Amino acid sequence: MARKKIIGLLVGRENTFPGPFLDIVNQKGRADGITAELAVLGGTTELAEQYHAVLVDRISHEVPYYRAHLKSAVLLGTTVINDPFWWEADEKFFECTLARKLGVAVPKTVVLPNKQYIPEIDHVRSLSNLQFPLDWEHILGYTGLPAVLKPNTGGGWKDVYIVHTLEDLITAYDQTGLKTMILQEFIDWDDYVRCICIGRQDVLPIRYNPRAPFEQRYQISNPVEGSLREQAINDARTLVDALGYDMDTVEFAVKDGVLYAIDFLNPAPDFDNFSIKEDNFRWVLEKMSDLVLAYARGDATPPWRDEQRWWKHVERTAAPNPVQA
Ligand SMILES: Nc1ncnc2c1ncn2[C@@H]1O[C@H](COP(=O)(O)OP(=O)(O)OP(=O)(O)O)[C@@H](O)[C@H]1O
Ligand SMILES: [Mg+2]
Repeated sequence: MARKKIIGLLVGRENTFPGPFLDIVNQKGRADGITAELAVLGGTTELAEQYHAVLVDRISHEVPYYRAHLKSAVLLGTTVINDPFWWEADEKFFECTLARKLGVAVPKTVVLPNKQYIPEIDHVRSLSNLQFPLDWEHILGYTGLPAVLKPNTGGGWKDVYIVHTLEDLITAYDQTGLKTMILQEFIDWDDYVRCICIGRQDVLPIRYNPRAPFEQRYQISNPVEGSLREQAINDARTLVDALGYDMDTVEFAVKDGVLYAIDFLNPAPDFDNFSIKEDNFRWVLEKMSDLVLAYARGDATPPWRDEQRWWKHVERTAAPNPVQA
């Protein structure tokens, strides 16, 4: 009999998604001998036989040991959602450049040198490639005012500043410490859409009000329809397919009919039923369960399979027997 396939879930403190997700995968997977459970990891050896056919990663950005485990698991044949290599490399500024190359509108954006460095960096001898002082007038000449100063990686609205003057900008920048920041044209939007994207093809646009309190931001009473819906789906699909994210949210600020992609680096998107609301939560459960089961059954191949240079070297070398745990 074929070995049972196990889907593992790595989560942080979210508590509404994990239980129902494991339940639905267990229900749908039963006939094929596929089960789902919370992953339990505790010290990984380098050639351990893979216990999980698929791992859904919702927290390795905050637990570095999971990231290390996941990279090795990919090499040993586990499908990981999302690709741990690309997630680690990805940044908001890169994504803005990519969006421009793909023809998706983004606010004008500048990446800035850091305000501070670790103590070992000598400001005179170590930073000889940096222009100093920065030409703030020139930078603001590109983005205009108001502008948004925000981290190049990260989430949760941490260190996001809206600045209205040069003085505001300097005051905010002076608080950014070791973080790499981007400065972005502020889109004075008249509408706002957030898309939940699963499997690089399924896109659910939801009207979103970032000015509302956290739990009221997803606005289900006012669905996204017509050409706005169509364009949001197309642009979101273009971005997640290029990035290879199997779960992501893509956020658009809409102004004068143009959809500006504001934030699309959300590889562990909010799936809580109290924020995305029940119908959307059901949609996520269906799409996520179908996706992980397709990977577990071998009906789908992860987008990043073979993309790293080392794959071809590994395949050329006779594989040693995995070390038994
Ligand atoms: N260029 C911009 N123009 C207008 N509003 C912006 C812009 N950039 C960011 N914002 C506002 O700030 C919010 C937070 O920015 P962003 O989404 O980039 O940060 P985040 O920390 O990744 O947030 P999240 O945790 O919601 O993903 C956005 O939802 C949007 O309302
Ligand atoms: Mg984000």
